[in-house]
Amino acid sequence: MRRLSVLFPFSVKCIVLLLIMRSSLEAPSIDAATTGSGNETDHLALLEFKAKIVHDPQNVMSSWNDSAHFCNWEGVTCGRKHKRVTILNLQSQGLVGSLSPYIGNLSFLREIRLRNNTLSGKIPAEFGHLFRLQVLELFFNQLEGKIPSHLSLCSKLRVLDMGFNKLENIPTELTNLSMLIELRMQSNRLTGALPPFIGNLSSLEDFSVAINFLGGSIPDALGQLNRMLAIGLGENNFSGIIPPVIYNISSIRIFSMNGNSLHGSLPSDVGILLPHLQQLQLHDNYLSGSIPVSLSNASKLQQLSLARNNFNANVLVQFGLLKQLQWLILQGNSLGGQGDHGDLNFITSMANCSSLQYMDLSFNHFTGALPTSVANLSSTLRLFAVASNRIYGNLPLGLFDLVNLPRIILQNNQITGTIPAEIGKLQKLEELFLDRNRLFGEIPSSIGNLSSLISLQLDDNKLEGNIPSSFGNCHNLLFLRLSRNTLSGSIPKQFFPASSKLVSVDLSRNHLIGSLPPEIGNLFNLNEFYISYNKLSGNIPVNLGRCSSLEFLFMRSNNIQGTMPMSLISLKGLRQFDLSQNNMSGQIPTYLGKFALEYLNLSFNNFEGEVPTEGVFANVSSISLEGNKRLCGGIQELQLPRCIIDESKKRKLRLVKIVVITISCISGVLILSASLYCWFKKQKRKQSPGSVEMKSFRKLSYQRILKATDGFSTANFLGAGRFGSVYKGTLEEDGAIVAVKVLNLQQRGAEKSFMAECKVLQNIRHRNLVRIMTSCSSIDFQGNDFKALVYEYMPNGNLSKWLHPRSEIYAEPAEQWSLSLLQRMNIAIDVASALDYLHHGCQKPIIHCDLKPGNVLLDDDMVAHIGDFGLAKFLSQLTNPIQSSSVGVRGTVGYAAPGNLTLLFDT
Ligand SMILES: *[C@@H]1O[C@H](CO)[C@@H](O)[C@H](O)[C@H]1NC(C)=O
Ligand SMILES: *[C@@H]1O[C@H](CO)[C@@H](O)[C@H](O)[C@H]1NC(C)=O
Ligand SMILES: *[C@@H]1O[C@H](CO)[C@@H](O)[C@H](O)[C@H]1NC(C)=O
Ligand SMILES: *[C@@H]1O[C@H](CO)[C@@H](O)[C@H](O)[C@H]1NC(C)=O
Ligand SMILES: *[C@@H]1O[C@H](CO)[C@@H](O)[C@H](O)[C@H]1NC(C)=O
Ligand SMILES: *[C@@H]1O[C@H](CO)[C@@H](O)[C@H](O)[C@H]1NC(C)=O
Ligand SMILES: *[C@@H]1O[C@H](CO)[C@@H](O)[C@H](O)[C@H]1NC(C)=O
Ligand SMILES: *[C@@H]1O[C@H](CO)[C@@H](O)[C@H](O)[C@H]1NC(C)=O
Repeated sequence: MRRLSVLFPFSVKCIVLLLIMRSSLEAPSIDAATTGSGNETDHLALLEFKAKIVHDPQNVMSSWNDSAHFCNWEGVTCGRKHKRVTILNLQSQGLVGSLSPYIGNLSFLREIRLRNNTLSGKIPAEFGHLFRLQVLELFFNQLEGKIPSHLSLCSKLRVLDMGFNKLENIPTELTNLSMLIELRMQSNRLTGALPPFIGNLSSLEDFSVAINFLGGSIPDALGQLNRMLAIGLGENNFSGIIPPVIYNISSIRIFSMNGNSLHGSLPSDVGILLPHLQQLQLHDNYLSGSIPVSLSNASKLQQLSLARNNFNANVLVQFGLLKQLQWLILQGNSLGGQGDHGDLNFITSMANCSSLQYMDLSFNHFTGALPTSVANLSSTLRLFAVASNRIYGNLPLGLFDLVNLPRIILQNNQITGTIPAEIGKLQKLEELFLDRNRLFGEIPSSIGNLSSLISLQLDDNKLEGNIPSSFGNCHNLLFLRLSRNTLSGSIPKQFFPASSKLVSVDLSRNHLIGSLPPEIGNLFNLNEFYISYNKLSGNIPVNLGRCSSLEFLFMRSNNIQGTMPMSLISLKGLRQFDLSQNNMSGQIPTYLGKFALEYLNLSFNNFEGEVPTEGVFANVSSISLEGNKRLCGGIQELQLPRCIIDESKKRKLRLVKIVVITISCISGVLILSASLYCWFKKQKRKQSPGSVEMKSFRKLSYQRILKATDGFSTANFLGAGRFGSVYKGTLEEDGAIVAVKVLNLQQRGAEKSFMAECKVLQNIRHRNLVRIMTSCSSIDFQGNDFKALVYEYMPNGNLSKWLHPRSEIYAEPAEQWSLSLLQRMNIAIDVASALDYLHHGCQKPIIHCDLKPGNVLLDDDMVAHIGDFGLAKFLSQLTNPIQSSSVGVRGTVGYAAPGNLTLLFDT
C-alpha cells in the first residue's frame, strides 16, 4: 500500500481500494494481482500470452521484449497512471496459437480485440476474472468447445463478438450481462433451442446467431429487446411463426430470418411498426399471405428479399416511396394472377428507386404485359428477371434502353412479337434468356453488336429466317440455344469464327439446310453440339476432328452422307454420339471402340462391313445399329451375320503382312543401334557437373530471401496457411516478383509438407499449376532451421477471396456477383485442365488432396493456377496404406472439399 500512496492522491486511492476489495470479493483467485506488484503480474501474463502464439507472421510480437516496458509493446495499451494493461489489441495479425489462461490475471483489462487471427482451442474460464472487461472480440478464429459460464462475471461486458468460430453454446449464466449491446455468434456450432434468457439482455442492440444449427421456435422473449437494431437468425432450423412481439421492436433496421422453416404471414402493418427497416431478409421459408402494402412506409428499405416462400396476391407496395431500394427479390412465390392483368404495373413506380440493383420476380403468377416504363429503371440495375410467369404482349422497346443491364431473364412466358433490332443497344448484356415464349420473325442481325454476350437462349419460339452471320461477332458467347424454331437456310461459316469460345451450341429442330461449314473446326472449346432434326446434307467436315473438347454430338435425322472421316479419331472425349437417320456409308470406324462412349446411335444409315467389338461395341444396350442392312460381325448379342472375307483379298493381305514385318525388323535393328549410340554419348555428357536439371531448381539462401521480402515485412505479407506464411518478394538478381512460403517448422507435418511439395512441383509443369521457382532450406540468423518455397507471384490472390468477400454480419442471400459468368467458366476450365494433367498427364498420377478455392490462385489475367501441394500424393503411394497415412488427416483418394468449387456457379 505504501507504493500506491506515492503514486496516487488520496481519492484515487480510495477508489483503487474499493476496486481491490470488490475484485477480491468477486474473483477470489486473483489475489496476486491485487498486491503491489500488479505490474509484474501483467508482465508475466503478457509473456504467457506470447508463449502460446506459435506463429506470428507479421512479427508484431517482436517488440514484446525486455528492451521496452510492456506498456510500449505493440498492441498493448496501459492506463496512464497505474501502468496496468487496459487494452490488448492484436486483430488481423495472422497470429496462430491458443489463448493463455494467464490473460485472466490482467485484471485492469477493458478490451480484448483479437478478431481475424487463427486462435484455436477453448476460451479459458479465467477470462471470468476480468471484471472490468467491456469488449471481447474474438471474431474469425478457430475457437471451439463451450463458452465458459464464468464469462457472466464480466458484468461490464458491452461487446461479445464471437462469430465465425466453432463454439457450441451460449451459457444461461450470460443472462446477468445486463450491459451487453452486441452479442454475435453467427457461424458457430450452436445447437438446440435459442435460450429465452436472451430476452433479459435488455441493452442488446445487435444480436446474431445466423448460420448455426439452432431449431425449435423463436422465443417470444426476444420481443423484450426493445433497443434492437439488428437481429440475425438466418440459416438455422427455426420453425413455427415469427413471434408477433418482435414486430413491436420499432427500432429494428436489419431483420434477417432467411433459410429457416418459418410459417405464417407478415402483419399488415409491418411497415408502420418497423419504420426504420433497411433489410428484410425472409427468403427460403414457408411464409404466406400477401406482401403488406404498409412496407411502402418503411422508406429506408434497401433489401427486400422474400424469395422462395408462399406469398400470394398482387404486389401493391408503392415502391416509388422506397427510394433507397437496392434488392427486390420475390422469386419463387405465387404472386400476381388476380385477374386485372396489370400485375406488373408496380414496375412503373420503381423509376424512383435510383439504387436498384437486383430485381427478380421469376416463378410467380404475374400476368399481363411488361410496361414500357421498364425503360425508367435505374441504370445501376444488374438483373431483370421475370421468368416463368404469365407475361404476354411484346417485348417493350423501353427494355432496350437499359444499356447497362447485364442480365435479362424472361424465359417461359407467353411473350410474342419480334425481337426488335434495338436489341443491339444492350452493349453490356451477358445473359439473355427469352426461350419458351412465342416470339416470331427473324433474329435481327444487330444481335452481333452484343459483344459482352455469354449466354443466349432463344429456343422454343417461332423464330424464322436465316441464322444471322453476325453471330460470329459475339466474341464472348459460350452458350447458344436456338433449337425448336423454324430457322432456315444454311449455317453461315461466319457463325464459327476463329476467335470463337463457344462451349455449347444447340440448333436442333429447325429447318436448316446445306452442309456443316468446315469452320466448325475453329471451336476448340465446343463441348456440346446439337443439330438433330434439320435438313442438313453433305459430308461430315474433316475439321470436326479438331473440336477435341466434344462430349455430346447429336446429328440425328438429317441427310448427312459419306463415310466417317478418319479425323474424328481425335474426339477421344466423346460420351454420347447420335448419327442415326442419315445417309452415312462405309465402315464403322474401329476408333469409336477406343472412346469412352456411353451411348452410340448409328441406326438407319447405310453402314456396312465389320462391326467392332471393343469399348462401347461390347455393350449391346449402349449402341443402336439397326436399319443398316450390310453390317456383319460384332458381338454375338447383336445377332449380325458373320463376316466373309474373300480369298483373293486374304492372299493380298498376307503378302502385305510379310512385307510390313520385314521392313519393321530391319528398321528396328537400325533404330536400336542408333539409340544405343546416342545413349552412350549422353551418359558421357551427364557426368559433367551442373546439368540442366539442377539449374532449373537452384536454391536460394536465407539472406537472399530475407532481402527479397524486406525482412518478411508486414507490407509484403500475403496470407497464412496451415503450414506457414506467404510473403511477396522481389529477387535481387533479376527483379522477378515472387511469392515466398515460409514453413512454420514447429507445426506438425510442416516438414513433410515441404518435402511433398518439392517432390511434386519439381517434376511437373502446366499452364494452370503454380510454378515453383526455387526452394530454400537453410539456417536463419537465430540458428533455427529455415525452409521456404519460392513460387511465381499471383497478383489476384486466391479464388476464395473472390467467392466469399467475407460478409460480416448476417447470412445474405447466396448471390455472389464479384466474378462474371465468363470468368467463372474460365476458372472452372483452368482448374479442370490442371487436374486432368495431374491425373492423366504425369508419369505417375498425382492427387492434390487439398483442392479448395483457397488453393486456386489467379494471375494478372485471371487465369487460375492450382497451388499448395503440401498434401499431394503420387497415386502409387496412395495405394500403399503404410505410406499414405502420414501428413494431415487426408486418407481418401477423393478431394476433401469438392462442394467448394461448385460455389463458382451458385447464383
Ligand atoms: C513495477 O512497479 C515497480 C514500482 O512501481 C517498479 O519498480 C517495477 O520496475 C515495475 N515493473 C515493471 C515490469 O514495470
Ligand atoms: C525489442 O523491441 C524493440 C522495440 O520495443 C525493437 O526495436 C527491437 O528490435 C526488439 N528486439 C528484438 C531482438 O527483437
Ligand atoms: C484479416 O487479416 C488479414 C491479415 O492477417 C488481412 O489481410 C485481412 O484484410 C483481414 N480481414 C478482415 C476481414 O479484417
Ligand atoms: C495467473 O494465472 C495463472 C493461470 O491462470 C496462475 O497459475 C497464476 O498463479 C496467476 N497469478 C500470477 C501472479 O501470475
Ligand atoms: C446473476 O446476478 C444475480 C444478482 O445480480 C446473482 O444472484 C446471480 O448469482 C448471478 N448469476 C450468475 C450466474 O452470475
Ligand atoms: C429474466 O428476467 C426475469 C425478470 O427479471 C426473471 O424472472 C427471469 O427468471 C429471467 N430469465 C432468465 C432465463 O434468466
Ligand atoms: C429441423 O427441425 C425439424 C423439426 O422442426 C426436425 O424434424 C429436423 O430434423 C430438423 N433438421 C435439422 C437438420 O436439424
Ligand atoms: C405491441 O405493442 C402494443 C403497444 O404497446 C401493444 O398494444 C401490443 O399488444 C403489442 N403487441 C404484441 C404482440 O405484444
